[in-house]
Amino acid sequence: MKKAEIVIKYFKYNSIDELSETDRQLLVKAREAINGSYAPYSAFQVGAAVLLKNGEVILGSNQENVAYPSGLCAERVALFYASARYSDVPVEAIAITARSTDFEIEEPVTPCGSCRQVMAETENRFGNDIRVIMQGYSGQIYMVTGINNMLPLMFHAEKLKK
Ligand code: THU
Repeated sequence: MKKAEIVIKYFKYNSIDELSETDRQLLVKAREAINGSYAPYSAFQVGAAVLLKNGEVILGSNQENVAYPSGLCAERVALFYASARYSDVPVEAIAITARSTDFEIEEPVTPCGSCRQVMAETENRFGNDIRVIMQGYSGQIYMVTGINNMLPLMFHAEKLKK
């Protein structure tokens, strides 16, 4: 038996002012996207903004359903729409933020496993690392480049081949 370790890298920022102009603008767009959220069951409203390599920004927000699993996270709403609208344009970055009607969200919103898997697919499809910028409604910001830093030991397409 051998113990192995995986190191993941991410960056922390105390304020939006520390981000690059591009990422700052994207996070502001993600905040705007919250307005489209439909979250009557969790009251947890999430906004996502996807920056494409052609400069387009696609917004998404979580869409809930009384049959809970039928709803979808903000990140996948944005990424799937980006793919449907601009099918051959790579994704450069995604910013994520959230607001609750019940409490202050001061910790960064880190995406669920299914959204990370979809980000991984997008990276593999276009062959470039995606930057993920995460914040709560206020407080610290996390930034990760490359989904291998969010989804260690992920399933790879090569495993489908002999
Ligand atoms: N949610 C997102 O939209 N993105 C995340 O990264 C975390 C969770 C949504 C799903 C559901 O509508 C609500 O937040 C509570 O889980």
